[in-house]
Amino acid sequence: MLPKAKYRKDYKKPDFTISDIFLEFRLDPEQTKVTAKTLVHKLNPEATSLRLDGHSFQFASIKLNDADFSNYQQDNESLTLDLSEMSAEKFELEIVTLLSPAHNTSLQGLYQSGDALCTQCEAEGFRQITYMLDRPDVLARYTTRIIADKTKYPFLLSNGNRIRQGELDNGYHWIEWQDPFPKPSYLFALVAGDFDVLRDTFMTKSGREVALELYVDKGNLDRADWAMASLKKSMKWDEERFDLEYDLDIYMIVAVDFFNMGAMENKGLNIFNSKFVLANPQTATDNDYLDVERVIAHEYFHNWTGNRVTCRDWFQLSLKEGLTVFRDQEFSSDTGSRNVNRINNVKFLRAVQFAEDASPMAHPIRPEKVIEMNNFYTVTVYEKGAEVIRMIHTLLGEEKFQAGMKLYIAENDGTAATCEDFVSAMERASGVDLTQFRRWYSQSGTPELTVSDEYDANTLTYRLHVAQMTPSTMDQMDKVNLHIPLRIALYDAAGERQPLKVRGEELASDVLNVTQYEQTFEFSPVYKQPVPALLCEFSAPVKLDFPYTNAQLITLMKFAENGFVRWDAAQMLFANELRQNLQRYQQNQELQLSAELIQALQYLVENYQQDIEVTTLILTLPKETEFAELFKTIDPVGIRVVRSFMQKTIANTLKDAFLRLYNHTQTETYQIDQQSIALRSFNNVCLSYLAFTDFGNTLVAKHYTHANNMTDTLAALALAVQAQLPCRDELLADFEHKWQHDGLVMDKWFAIQATRPDENVLEIVTHLMDHPSFNFNNPNRLRALVGSFCSQNLNAFHMIDGSGYRFLVDILIRLNSSNPQIAARLVEPLIRFARYDNQRQTLMKRGLERLRDVENLSKDLFEKIEKALQ
Ligand code: TRP
Ligand code: ZN
Repeated sequence: MLPKAKYRKDYKKPDFTISDIFLEFRLDPEQTKVTAKTLVHKLNPEATSLRLDGHSFQFASIKLNDADFSNYQQDNESLTLDLSEMSAEKFELEIVTLLSPAHNTSLQGLYQSGDALCTQCEAEGFRQITYMLDRPDVLARYTTRIIADKTKYPFLLSNGNRIRQGELDNGYHWIEWQDPFPKPSYLFALVAGDFDVLRDTFMTKSGREVALELYVDKGNLDRADWAMASLKKSMKWDEERFDLEYDLDIYMIVAVDFFNMGAMENKGLNIFNSKFVLANPQTATDNDYLDVERVIAHEYFHNWTGNRVTCRDWFQLSLKEGLTVFRDQEFSSDTGSRNVNRINNVKFLRAVQFAEDASPMAHPIRPEKVIEMNNFYTVTVYEKGAEVIRMIHTLLGEEKFQAGMKLYIAENDGTAATCEDFVSAMERASGVDLTQFRRWYSQSGTPELTVSDEYDANTLTYRLHVAQMTPSTMDQMDKVNLHIPLRIALYDAAGERQPLKVRGEELASDVLNVTQYEQTFEFSPVYKQPVPALLCEFSAPVKLDFPYTNAQLITLMKFAENGFVRWDAAQMLFANELRQNLQRYQQNQELQLSAELIQALQYLVENYQQDIEVTTLILTLPKETEFAELFKTIDPVGIRVVRSFMQKTIANTLKDAFLRLYNHTQTETYQIDQQSIALRSFNNVCLSYLAFTDFGNTLVAKHYTHANNMTDTLAALALAVQAQLPCRDELLADFEHKWQHDGLVMDKWFAIQATRPDENVLEIVTHLMDHPSFNFNNPNRLRALVGSFCSQNLNAFHMIDGSGYRFLVDILIRLNSSNPQIAARLVEPLIRFARYDNQRQTLMKRGLERLRDVENLSKDLFEKIEKALQ
C-alpha cells in the first residue's frame, strides 16, 4: 500500500485527549519494558473508537480500567480501540510494550547512543515507544519512573523535577521524574547512562535559582565550559530582550554522539548532538564555537516559543521554528556582530533555501500537504520562516513587535497554537494591517523584484519602478502578489548618502511597502543622479534585479554606510564576473577579470581596518554552490573552472598586499571573542589567496605547523587540499594520526577529503567508508563524508559517467532500512535533476528509479522520489 498524505485543511480536533500519563521504563538495551498508564478523556461525545499511533515495538498487553481489554484492531502503525460499549467520558488505559533500543538505528524513539540510552520524539517518535495519541495538540502531565542497572546507568534523567528514587536489591535503582507543565508527547525525553557532569546555577531576574546541569561523555569535561557559558548568556538575553524567564528549577542538557539533527528542546531536558556542545581551542574552530552558542540559545529559546506555546499540528511547525530561529539570530546579532550574522544568514538562505524553492520539495513555510513530517524540517520552514518573522519585525518596529509577542504569549500560554494565532496577535497589538502579508504563509517560491529607475534633473525627481513576480514552483502553479518590505537608501556617485524625501518631506521610514504587481515610488527633491541601495539588509527573502553598472556597485561596495549593503554590492559584482566568464568558457574564449574589480578589491584590502569583518566576508569568494544558484541550468564543470580562475587571478594580482597583511595580522594567543575571531578570519582569508601563489606551499605548511588552535589548523589543511599543494599528504596524515580516536574532529577531515578537487576523489571517498573512524550508523560521519561529497563537490558528484549518482544510490539503499530520516536528507542533490543538462538528468533519474524500486521503501524517501519523478 502506498503511503498516504495528510492535508492541512483536514485538521480536526481530537475526539479524545490524555491529561495524565505515567510511564515506567525497565531499561535494557536488548529488551526494555515500557508500561504506560494514561488517563483518557472523551471530548467528542459521539466518538465510539479511539485510534492510537504506534509502531516498531512489540505490543504485550492492554488494560482498560484495570481489566484486560481485547476489543481492538491493530495495523502497522496503529491500535484502534472499539469503545462503543464504553460510555464513561473518562477512563484509564494501561499499555505494555517491549523495545530493543540497541537495534534501533533509526535514532527515533528510544535508542542506544554509545553506552547511553536516550530518546528522540519529535516529530512522531513517541509512537515508537508506546501506543499514544501522538499529536502536538494533546497535552498531558508526565510522570516517569526509570528502572535500570545502577553501574551501567548511574544517571537516569527525564523531564521536570526529580521527585523520588530508590535502590533495588539486584544492583538496580530507580528514579521518578515529574513535569508540572502539560506537554505534547514530542517533548518527552529520557536519558540513562554514565556521564561527567558540569554543574552551575542561574539566578533569574525574579530571584529564583535554577540548577544547570550539562552531561557529557566521560573525559569530555574539558570541552563543556563554552556550552554552559552559552546557556547562561542565552537565559540572560531572553530576560533582557524578550522579558522571558525560565520556569523550572532545573535545566539539563545531554550531549550524545548519535543524533539525526542538531539538538532537541525537550522540556527541562535538552538532548544535543555532541557536535553542538563540545568545544575547546584544540578541537573546535571559531565557527564551531559560534554554532554551539547559537544552537544552545535556539533550544533554550524554545522553552517559550515551542514548549509553553506549542503547535496545534505539524503544519504549523514554522510557528515555533521560524520564530525561534529569528530569536536565535537576534541573540547572536545582539551579543556578537550584527553584520556578520546577517551576511552569513543571507548567504545560507540564498544558496540553500532558494535552491529548495526551485526543487521538487518546494513548499510554503506552512506546508499544505505532508507524507512524512521529518521531511519538513527544512530551510524553508526554519530559515525562510525566520525571514517572515523578521519582515513582521521590520514592518512593526521593535516596540510593537514586543507588544505583539506579549499578547501572543498571554493568549496562547499552555496551549497548542497556529501561525494565524501569532499573526493575529501581532496585528492586534500593533494596529498594522497584515492581511496581505499573511500570503507569505501560504505561498511557496522565491519572489523576483525587477526594479528600474529614472532621474529627471529638471524637476529633481527620482522614480523607482518596482515589479514583483513569483515564478511557479513544483507544488503551486499560480502565484499572487505579496506585501514586500523594501528597504532602500540613496547615494550619489561619490558615495554620499542622500536624504529620502517625497515632495520635500523627509520620509519617516526607509522601508517601501511593495504590495502591487507593479508600483512606482517617487522621490523629490533629489539633487544628483542617485545610486540606489536596494533591499538593504535583505529586508525580504526575494531575488533582486536592477541594472547596476559595475561603477555603481563599486561605489556602494566602497562607501555605503551599511556593511550588509557593501557586501551585497560585492556579491553582485562577483556574480557579473562569473556570468561573463562562464559564457567565455562555454564559447572557448579566454577568461578575464575586469580591471575595475581588481582595483576595488585592492582598495578594500588596503583599507581593511575600516571594517575588518565585512572586508573579510567580501573577500571570501562565494562557494561553487552559491554561484550555482545564479543559473537555471547548472554547469558544474564550468563553475569549477571559472571560480578557480577568479581565485587564482585575484591571488596573483594582489599577492603583495595579501602577503603584507597576512604577516601583519598574526595572533599569538588564542582568544575567542569578536575581535580575535575577526582578526583570525581576515588572516585566513589572506592565506586562502596566498595558497594559490608561488609561496603557497611554504606559507600553508608553516601556518599548519605553527597553529595553536583548530581554526588555523583546519584553514591550512583545507587550503593544502584545495590548492593541491605538495605538503597536502603529509598534513592530512598528521591530522589523521592526531585525531583518529575522535569522530567529531575527524568529521572535518572527512569533509575536506570529500571536497577534494582531485580527479579520483570518488575512489578516495569510497575507501574512506572503510576508515576505522568512519561509522555508517553515525549521521555526523555520513553527513561529513557522503553529504559533503554529494552536495558540495558539484564537479565530482555530477561526473558525466554517472559514477557519483551510483555511489549515492548504493548508500541510500542501505540507509533506507537503517535510518530513513537521514536517507531522505542525503537524497536531496539527486532529486534536483531538473537543474542539469539532459545527459545528467537521464542518469540521475535512472538512479532515482532504481531507488524507487527497492523493497520496503520508507515514507521518507517515497515522498521525495515521488515528487521528483512525477
Ligand atoms: N526541534 C528541533 C530543533 O529545532 C529539531 C529536531 C531535533 C528534530 N531532532 C529532530 C526534528 C528529529 C525532527 C526529528 O532544534
Ligand atoms: Zn528549533
